Amino acid sequence: MPLMSRRRFGQTCASAALVAGLPRHAQSQNSPILRAGPGTVQLAPDTYPKTSIWGYDGTVPGPLLRARQGERMTQEFRNDLPQASTVHWHGIRIDNGMDGVTGMTQEAVEPGGAFLYDFALPDAGTYWYHPHNRTYEQMARGLYGALVVDEAKDAPVVDLDEVLLLDDWRLTDDAQVADGFGNMHDWSHGGRLGNWITVNGDGAWTRDVPRLSRLRLRLVNTANARIFALETRGFEGWVVALDGMPLEAPQPLATLTLVPGQRADLIVDVIADAGDEAFIVSNERDSGYVIAAFRVTPTDRAARLTPPAALPPNPVPVLGPLETAARAELRMEGGAMGELRGAMMNGQMTGIRDMAAQGKVWAFNGMADMADTPLLKATIGETVRIAMINDTAWPHGMHLHGHHFRQIAADGSLGPLRDTVLMNRGETVEIAFVADNPGDWLLHCHMLEHSAGGMMTWLRVI
Ligand code: C2O
Ligand code: CU
Repeated sequence: MPLMSRRRFGQTCASAALVAGLPRHAQSQNSPILRAGPGTVQLAPDTYPKTSIWGYDGTVPGPLLRARQGERMTQEFRNDLPQASTVHWHGIRIDNGMDGVTGMTQEAVEPGGAFLYDFALPDAGTYWYHPHNRTYEQMARGLYGALVVDEAKDAPVVDLDEVLLLDDWRLTDDAQVADGFGNMHDWSHGGRLGNWITVNGDGAWTRDVPRLSRLRLRLVNTANARIFALETRGFEGWVVALDGMPLEAPQPLATLTLVPGQRADLIVDVIADAGDEAFIVSNERDSGYVIAAFRVTPTDRAARLTPPAALPPNPVPVLGPLETAARAELRMEGGAMGELRGAMMNGQMTGIRDMAAQGKVWAFNGMADMADTPLLKATIGETVRIAMINDTAWPHGMHLHGHHFRQIAADGSLGPLRDTVLMNRGETVEIAFVADNPGDWLLHCHMLEHSAGGMMTWLRVI
């Protein structure tokens, strides 16, 4: 469904001048109230009508919430939506009662209701917030925003710090959010993929940047299901953090894959010539598309800066010995082209057709709905390892609440701290973390149609 043409990489952008950037957000003036409700925004080019959305404070994305590491975030959530909702603070190692999970850490806030979220911010980095009730619909309609926690000290020196929330909308020909949120074809395949990509709610996001300036770009994949495969042109850069957590050493930037929920912090130097453009390009099936363009202006800087140092580490506990760690296994099954014949639902073995009739098309360890008992019970401070086996024909992005984990590679080496991990078809990924945060925590696929369709389980830390 070609809604409107997007700018292929290599095309020049005739319309860029028409597209106004979003106003810069104030740095630390968070409003204490976060209101979810309907709104209208110009998502598509202005030859199209405005799009009716659901947004925080009526906008897409919602307001940038910003605080310093060690401070608290206090937000009174008010629900002006026609549906019950919650706010989940994705990636924050948060008090369990503030995690925003419907039916687990709180009851959903009914229309007209309110809930006070108040929590500590132990870690610096790039986080985000979104509902955790009918998430596949509420996020597809535009409910999400960024939460940036600035380093308590030793923040990197950059000329510009930009948050880029990447989204993938399914719009109708008159630029409205397509309904069909419960479309079982989407649920059993790759999720709800869209036809219009925006950065910060803008289909042609642009910014002017001086040559040789240094930018910190905070990328967040807020899409329901699209996996972004990104590249940059006209920059030389480094990945300095993933899912909020600093890398021990900056990694030279090449290509970057972000599954839904994942973030990457980049530090990039503008090396394109003045008068040219630098780009972020999304590589899709048919072509590469420009999703963010930076028009390069003359510089008064005489030379390149020296490469950036690592960001200061966050206070995440160090893993205990892996040999004696508590273990669990999670077998992921189902979906189109899978072998699943049936799974447990409501305590009964249910055939795949009856499952699908009740909206479930995936299973974790043979269960299609949330188990009454946790996948694993850990005592506070225990090191835990979970082997996740993707026995499906689809990629997934598995997200753990309340903790960051490391992937254990086949050779036993440990990957960077993350809260969401890509799992390709057929792949087994083993993660390890210190279960230091008491409470009940979800572990689910962040492709929202997959989690709604059965890819959801939980852990208990006591
Ligand atoms: Cu970002 Cu359980 O989610
Ligand atoms: Cu999935």
